[in-house]
Amino acid sequence: MLTKNIELASKALKKEQIIGFPTETVYGLAGNAFSEKAIKSIFELKNRPFNNPLIVHISSMLQLHEVAIEIPEKAFLLAKHFWPGPLTFILKKHPQIPLLVTANQATVAVRMPNHPMALKLLDQLNFPLVAPSANPYQAISPTKAEHVEQYFKDQLQVILDGGPCEHGIESTIVGFEGDSIIVYREGSVTLKQLEKIADKLTLKSNENHSPVAPGMHSKHYAPKTPSILTNQLKTVIEQNEYLKIGILTFKETRLKYPVAIQFYLTQNGNLKEAAKNLYAKLHELDAFDLDLIIFEKAPDRGLGKTINDRLKRAASIIENG
Ligand code: TXA
Ligand code: MG
Repeated sequence: MLTKNIELASKALKKEQIIGFPTETVYGLAGNAFSEKAIKSIFELKNRPFNNPLIVHISSMLQLHEVAIEIPEKAFLLAKHFWPGPLTFILKKHPQIPLLVTANQATVAVRMPNHPMALKLLDQLNFPLVAPSANPYQAISPTKAEHVEQYFKDQLQVILDGGPCEHGIESTIVGFEGDSIIVYREGSVTLKQLEKIADKLTLKSNENHSPVAPGMHSKHYAPKTPSILTNQLKTVIEQNEYLKIGILTFKETRLKYPVAIQFYLTQNGNLKEAAKNLYAKLHELDAFDLDLIIFEKAPDRGLGKTINDRLKRAASIIENG
């Protein structure tokens, strides 16, 4: 059920139930981070393998010490600038965080979300919340409460409706090694923003996601409809003219393509706006019963890089060039 009632959400969580909840990035499936029962339910609901660890959400710096130990100075520096906000830290885990959360690793992922409802909810609880994005494993992430409802219908008694997500793309994930900051996942905080605060950035975001074969990337954020990522839009349309096609361009384009549906991410090329709209447009296109969705690449800079990363993981085929 969709609701704005935070009390209902906190009651459910105290009973070890799972709820849908809003953050500034995407909606999460939240449960008590100290409850093995709740954590297990999250993995089962998402059909997510247990070797893929979860992010712990907190609402105060004090609470950080219940989740992690031996926190490096650089983490405090980044927290000062970016929290509450879409930046996740990989830190040494506190013994009271169950190994189920971290997939048996000694590290834990933690962030303080910047959404008034999420923070208010966390303040009412005496435990942090684990929350992966509220989609079945590998499906498109949800940026509206309605997306969560479509995915999990009767399986969730409470879905807190906090409106459309401000950023629309997951948090950036960083770890700390000696003096360096390692970027494991590019997300709503850009590399440029991080560089302004901290030097010695190392990018490792592609390592464990490298393509298994040419043209094939690890599937994630994927619509059910087959899809192609290209910057040769016209050519790909011509090659597939006998199909029912939907296209997603970066900017609004006046070119009239002979396709069933044509959407764009941003009217005038604003990257933040494009990121915010990305998943919602994927959800919309996927509902049209198309034969093929063609994505146009975004400009390869700043948030555009992150958009292209998500489109690569969403697409069934990636065209080079
Ligand atoms: O914006 C976000 O981060 C959203 C909202 C709900 O907070 N959450 C989210 O969670 O994107 P999820 O589960 O979809 O992605 C979490 C990522 C996974 O790729 C996981 O492998 C990584 O975080 N992760 C979690 N714990 C980790 C750890 N200890 N070491 C390395 N990676 C970790
Ligand atoms: Mg996810």
